[in-house]
Amino acid sequence: MCGIVGFIGNKEIKNVLLSGLKELEYRGYDSAGLAVLQNGKIDIFKAVGKLKNLVDKTANYAPTGFAAGIAHTRWATHGKPTEINAHPHQGDRAFVVHNGIIENYMSLKETLIKSGAKFVSQTDTEVIAHLYDHFLRDLGEPKAAFARTIEAIEGAYAILLLDEAMDGAIFFAKKHSPLEIGKVGGEIYFASSDAPLVGICDSAIYLEDDSWGWANASEIAIFKDKEPQNTPAKPLPATQTGAQKEGFRFFMEKEIYEQSRVVGETIMGRVAGDSVRFDEIGEGFLDGVSALRLVACGTSYHAAMTACYLFERLAKIEARAEIASEFRYREAILREGELFIVISQSGETADTLEALKLAKKAGVLTLAICNVDNSSIVREAHTAILTRAGIEKGVASTKAFATQTMVLWLLALLIGDRRGAISADLMSREIMAIRKSALALQVREETHDLIRRMTKRYLYGHGFFYIGRDIFYPLALEGALKLKEISYLHAEGYPAGEMKHGPIALADAELFTIALMPRAILREKTRSNVEELIARDSTLLAISGEEFPLADDLLPIAASDHPMLEFYEMMVAIQLLALEIAVRLGNDVDMPRNLAKSVTVE
Ligand code: G6P
Repeated sequence: MCGIVGFIGNKEIKNVLLSGLKELEYRGYDSAGLAVLQNGKIDIFKAVGKLKNLVDKTANYAPTGFAAGIAHTRWATHGKPTEINAHPHQGDRAFVVHNGIIENYMSLKETLIKSGAKFVSQTDTEVIAHLYDHFLRDLGEPKAAFARTIEAIEGAYAILLLDEAMDGAIFFAKKHSPLEIGKVGGEIYFASSDAPLVGICDSAIYLEDDSWGWANASEIAIFKDKEPQNTPAKPLPATQTGAQKEGFRFFMEKEIYEQSRVVGETIMGRVAGDSVRFDEIGEGFLDGVSALRLVACGTSYHAAMTACYLFERLAKIEARAEIASEFRYREAILREGELFIVISQSGETADTLEALKLAKKAGVLTLAICNVDNSSIVREAHTAILTRAGIEKGVASTKAFATQTMVLWLLALLIGDRRGAISADLMSREIMAIRKSALALQVREETHDLIRRMTKRYLYGHGFFYIGRDIFYPLALEGALKLKEISYLHAEGYPAGEMKHGPIALADAELFTIALMPRAILREKTRSNVEELIARDSTLLAISGEEFPLADDLLPIAASDHPMLEFYEMMVAIQLLALEIAVRLGNDVDMPRNLAKSVTVE
């Protein structure tokens, strides 16, 4: 959600800032902007919409020589996606970019207006610029003014600030929103995630919450409260992988095709013979764990739901999935012996991160399942398992979900084994299925072609119901979410057995039902539920490994006797279905409207 880049040095600063933003654009693309400070003068550019508009607007701008600059790509929270609301925001001397939310901005704004500040935007961010100017007038000293500014604001933030009178310097602050600093010789880079730094810096300083400070060519000064900090740098990956479309039309399409390979990587080294191991989970880590609580948002929450079926069925351990934003405020009771598992692709989702902090505060053991090493969630949890999906760029999550469910499946087997809940025979059948997963996830060109052709019949109508039972219920939720995210059509996921308790009233020929009809589990029960809908003339697309002549359309998958293999086959089908519908509707599949890849506000 929003991306921040900053630079101090002698390179072509506009290009450094724009290429940094390019890496972060998928995190927010309502507007973009940059400000460059050189010889006591600030140049500022902003453009609504995708980064390309800012690139066009700055085409003839080519500053050279030593300079400091800040840049931002925005996912709107306060105020519409207009140029006025685009970052950087400015006061008299201060120019600011910010990720997060300043929760007390209304009261600060009122006070500042009374003392003469002129606000032009509807954003919370603008208060930071005016506050800085205000304290600068009061205290007469920039560092003290910035410190007071940070003291006065509440909420979540990653902030970079330029003071027009301080050539070559950038002020920074971080709380609940990621910010890192890289240094190469005399050049200093800032970014809200690794991507802009990878390939440029070998290591980065990941700022801790409540850190603030300033950087210039000769020093990076970091403080927490008033105490100077010596935050060590951690190594960055050497190369950016998976950041090109490699001939695919969209990142999302490429990521769907990659699932087979990345799930193979998720398994690597974690399955040996007929047993599962995670190096990340030490010998005694699971001792005393008697229940599991899984907390996540969006697609990751669907992985959590899926896992609950697996944990209870395979490991015979109580498991419960919750949406992070609900968990945070419902005064949930955590019991001794619960393992608190957070699942997040990005590792930066604010609600998930805060839920994790609550759990840690309550004294329970925490485990993160995450795709991004060094992310806030990975650093916060007692231990973390990395999902190894590689960089996921498409805003609609695909391969991250595939790898999350795989890690959770493996974990269910590990826990089941440690608890003595799994027979050797069952373990061996499960491991065999795990080994076949990569094959189940392979995209078959003929299926993709069929989906491409089929979608023309599923563009209109008054909505979609994705239905399934057991693990196919969270998969139905995920199918509906994928469709909503990129096609903007209304879709709901529903337990197939629950349709008759209300939603069936919607059934008619213009209601599209996507039925997930496995062979391996609850086959007959699901069929009966589907037939109830067909009897009400709902238009039915069955995704199944078996013939189902009553369906209007059949999307064939390879039938299997293992539900997770059918799950993966169907997962690929629903992802491609959403993709091809969105393509036909002319939507931007990778950067759908109103969304952002990583939501770092609550
Ligand atoms: C955003 C994304 C979703 C994602 C959710 C959780 O809403 O658009 O695709 O599932 O955040 O993200 P996380 O990174 O925590 O898995």
